[in-house]
Amino acid sequence: MGVMRLGYVHVKVTDMAEARQHYSETVGLYETGAADGKVYFKGWDEWDHHSLVLEEGGVGLVRLGMKVRKPEELAQFESAAQKFGYTVTRFSKGENAEVGDGFTVHMLGHQVDFYQDMTYLGVDVGVLNPMSHPRNLKGIGAPFLDHMLLKGDDLETAERFFVDVLDFAPVERMVASMDDGAPLIATWLSCSSKTHDIALLKGEDGGLHHFTFQLRDWGKVQDAADTLVHDDVPIDLGPTRHGITRGETIYFFDPSGNRNEVFAGGYNFNYDRPCVTWTMDQLARGLDYYKREVTETFLTVYT
Ligand SMILES: [Fe+2]
Repeated sequence: MGVMRLGYVHVKVTDMAEARQHYSETVGLYETGAADGKVYFKGWDEWDHHSLVLEEGGVGLVRLGMKVRKPEELAQFESAAQKFGYTVTRFSKGENAEVGDGFTVHMLGHQVDFYQDMTYLGVDVGVLNPMSHPRNLKGIGAPFLDHMLLKGDDLETAERFFVDVLDFAPVERMVASMDDGAPLIATWLSCSSKTHDIALLKGEDGGLHHFTFQLRDWGKVQDAADTLVHDDVPIDLGPTRHGITRGETIYFFDPSGNRNEVFAGGYNFNYDRPCVTWTMDQLARGLDYYKREVTETFLTVYT
């Protein structure tokens, strides 16, 4: 099994008070801690201490964390990542607050942490005869961090790392054309039954395109749109369906300009499912299945 999920995203924000308001009141995450200039959040259906870390002082991604299932797999991945050729550094329990021992792979200008242990908080509804959801969720009431889209230059090598070393599957890929040797534009990679746990987009190393919270269904995506309008949050794209992954989506910006997404649907991925290919000439339908138009900011704005 190896990597279970994208465990956390750590981003910079320009104004902590505004960011706190956005992620608590609009996205509806729970604040679970604040220390050393960082504020920690989790969704209501997440058991670990946090899935989002905010740090004041700019905009964009600081690091992300992938949670591995077993301690022995963590050691195996560290050794395999070193052999693969990326720079790998270790961190000890507590260096990342509430996170156990682990290692960081430096790839595509990003710091990708791998860890197996994080402080367990549980959920309000508990695990014995639980209710379906907590009462009095705020705003969108996002239950779970879902995936993220990173920008970087050498996508081919990064994709090979995720597939060969971490046992992710390429679920959908976009290529410039069907010509031999045409460059890879983007790849959607899964370590679960979802269409993607992480996606990579050709571009400047270190760029963050968006990170995403999972919603239950299209109705919840529509409700989220209402909340975003109510709270005067700038919407970048949607609500619509993607052609790519078939997911239902809205992209919007936090007050610092980091792009968020809420996402539902998509198909159930299995490892024996063949990879879907998209060509760049079909980008508009891939992004916005209904309008079949490319939203310019979606391609040009990132942090
Ligand atoms: Fe996404």
